[in-house]
Amino acid sequence: MTKTTTRFWHPFADMAAVSDQGELVLARGEGAHVFDEQGRDYLDAAGGLWFANVGHGRVEIAEATARQLSTLASYSTFGDLANRPALDLAERLAGLAPMADARVFFTSGGSDSVDTAVKLVRRYWSELGQPQRQVIITREHAYHGMHLAGTSLAGIPANQASHGSLDPAVVVVPWNDAEALERVLSERDDIGAFFCEPVIGAGGVYAPPEGYLAAVRDSCRRHDVLFVADEVITGYGRTGAMFASERWNLDPDIMLTAKGLTSGYVPMGAVVVAGRVAGPFWTPQSHPVLWRHGYTYSGHAGAAAAAMANLDILERENLVVQVDHLQHVLGRGLAPLSTYDVVAEVRTGVGLLTAVDFTPEALAHGVPARVLAGLRQRGVLTRLLASGALQISPPFVVTEQDIADLAGAIDAAIKDAGGVARTPIAVGHEEPDLLPQITSDEGVDAFDDDHYLRDRPPHHG
Ligand SMILES: Cc1ncc(COP(=O)(O)O)c(C=O)c1O
Repeated sequence: MTKTTTRFWHPFADMAAVSDQGELVLARGEGAHVFDEQGRDYLDAAGGLWFANVGHGRVEIAEATARQLSTLASYSTFGDLANRPALDLAERLAGLAPMADARVFFTSGGSDSVDTAVKLVRRYWSELGQPQRQVIITREHAYHGMHLAGTSLAGIPANQASHGSLDPAVVVVPWNDAEALERVLSERDDIGAFFCEPVIGAGGVYAPPEGYLAAVRDSCRRHDVLFVADEVITGYGRTGAMFASERWNLDPDIMLTAKGLTSGYVPMGAVVVAGRVAGPFWTPQSHPVLWRHGYTYSGHAGAAAAAMANLDILERENLVVQVDHLQHVLGRGLAPLSTYDVVAEVRTGVGLLTAVDFTPEALAHGVPARVLAGLRQRGVLTRLLASGALQISPPFVVTEQDIADLAGAIDAAIKDAGGVARTPIAVGHEEPDLLPQITSDEGVDAFDDDHYLRDRPPHHG
């Protein structure tokens, strides 16, 4: 019998182990750092869970939320009911949206946003007289949240295992092969939408191969299939553009967001819908169109106030441009880790998103878990992705010194875990340029697929 030391059932956890070995209890956050109950300082290398875009301890967001909570915390928004923060936030997101004439459907988080989009796609095609278009296409390595719809769309098999029957109307295509998608779309007339993380996140941090996103976007357009960009991770600045859809010029039909919308200060998500898709629901039809969908907290007033304050900070402090700069610092700092024999690949260079992936042999010998433990001892907090890769996605306020410290800590933790450098390396920010510096006046417009691939840091594996 293991001892029960907690009543808190943690997500994605082996509770027998947690209950036996104890929890790390965090108490406070400030910028890119969090502190445990004993006051130990950790660099937050994961951005919480890819969400802490503006960083921790922003009193401004707490105060804006508290003001709204003490005025009107929330009220139903079903039917014709609204509150001012939800209206203002919808207007603001429509103005930022990378598609024309956007409408905004609020949710409580990313998995809600995925569920909402699956239902919206099917309902949309029913309204257009094509109810057979039920099938959703997803990609290998995809992560679309943990509700039943998102679990059905998972490209990570372990996330589906032993959960019984899932939605059968799903087709999985390779993550990096635009022609495979084109073939499916040419052969079938029952496809409603293609769900796509512009940069795959939880499945291992895979940036799109050169030309991939342009090609799949084009296929969807030609076959009249909805293109759904899942920007739950990439949204609100993480790739160095406000949305990855902007960086890769995707003009999505539907865009899913959450996390960075509030930087995690309170739970909230938003499904941003192009006017062309909202049309059948927003214009008088021969029959009344009432979409029987929504959540108790859709358009929660306090959450909307938090999101507004979060976006104020993102804009006022030019944090998206900061990501555009820091992606090169992070790339230069971490790419040399690929020299280690236990490291298969360091996927870095696009935004503040990196995975340090280990070889199958290293995985079989428990190296990633030892590296993770070593990092924690050195005051760096992150986690392993399903593939065993280290997730690196710090808050946008991370400093260049933090990144140098992070690189040094991973280097030391890999050595301690038995990794051997194939050639002598020096880890840190004095490494030779692996990525071009993009000056901030070139801004995010300087990005395109070509840019990314031409200048991608070298890797092996
Ligand atoms: C791409 C993507 N979609 C959806 C989700 C689900 O979001 P949530 O955990 O807020 O439900 C996540 C969460 O990591 C995600 O990465």
